[in-house]
Amino acid sequence: MREIVVSFDRVSKSYPLYKEFRGVKNVLFDLTKHLNRRSPRFEALRDISFEVYKGEKFGIIGRNGAGKSTTLGLVAGVLKPSAGRVVVNGRIFPLLTLGAGFHPELTGKENIILNGILMGLTRREVLQKIEEIIDFSELEEFIDRPIRIYSSGMLARLGFSIVAHLDPEILLIDEVLGVGDIKFQKKCQEKMMEFRTGNVTMIIVSHSVGSISTICDRVMWIENHVVRMIGDPMEVVEQYCKQAGVEFVVDGNKVQTKTSTF
Ligand SMILES: Nc1ncnc2c1ncn2[C@@H]1O[C@H](COP(=O)(O)OP(=O)(O)O)[C@@H](O)[C@H]1O
Ligand SMILES: [Mg+2]
Repeated sequence: MREIVVSFDRVSKSYPLYKEFRGVKNVLFDLTKHLNRRSPRFEALRDISFEVYKGEKFGIIGRNGAGKSTTLGLVAGVLKPSAGRVVVNGRIFPLLTLGAGFHPELTGKENIILNGILMGLTRREVLQKIEEIIDFSELEEFIDRPIRIYSSGMLARLGFSIVAHLDPEILLIDEVLGVGDIKFQKKCQEKMMEFRTGNVTMIIVSHSVGSISTICDRVMWIENHVVRMIGDPMEVVEQYCKQAGVEFVVDGNKVQTKTSTF
C-alpha cells in the first residue's frame, strides 16, 4: 500500500472579515448587535479533503484567490484549520509566498544557514552545500547583504535555491516557477524535472499549466474555495482551461495554452 504523507480530512479555513470602523457612536449604538452577533468570517477553504502519497508530485491549480496558498500554509503548519483535520508526516520546508522563513536583517548567506538549521540539518551540513546554493541562486553579488534590500524576484530565487538543495522530504512550491527572468525559470524547471524522478514529495502551486502537467502525477483544481476536481493532470488541466475559455493544445505529451499563463 502507498504511504500517505499529507492528508486533509474535511478541512475548512476561515479568516476574520475586515470590518470598517465607523466611530464610537455607531459602535455604542449597535452595541447589542455587536455583542450578539459572531463576527463574520471569510471562508478561504470549505470542506476540502485530499491525500498526497509519498514521492508523489501533486499539483494545485485555480484562479487567484481560490485558496491555493492557504492550502500550502495548512500543510506547512503555518496556518491552523478552522475545522477538519490536517495530518502531515515528513520534514517540510515551507517555501510559501515570497520571503516566508526569511529574516530581513540577516544576510542572504545567514538566511541560508538559518533555514537549513530550521529544516533539521546541522550547520556543517548546510555549509557543505552553501556554495552550490549561492551558485544556483546567481546572487553572489548580494549574498553578504541583508535580504531586506532584495527584490521579490531575488527572494524567490534564494528561496527556491535553498529548498532545491537541502533535501526536504516534502517540498512546497508556490508559484515560484513564474518568477525571475527566463533563464532562471528554465533552471527551476530543470531542477524540478530532476526532482520529478526522485523520492521527494512535492506539492506545487502554479499558473503554468504546461509545467504542472509535465511535472505532476495528479492535479487538484480548487475553484471558489472548494475542490472542483482531482485526478490525471491532462484531464484536470483540460477541464480547467475549458472553463476559463483558454485554448488548450497537446503537443506530444506537452500541454500548452495560447497564452502560457493566465
Ligand atoms: N490572512 C488573511 N486574512 C484574510 N483573508 C485572507 C488571508 N489570506 C488569504 N485570504 C483570502 O482567502 C482567499 C484565498 O487566498 P489564497 O489561499 O491566498 O488564494 P490563492 O493562493 O489561490 O490565490 C482569498 O480571497 C484571500 O483574499
Ligand atoms: Mg497564492
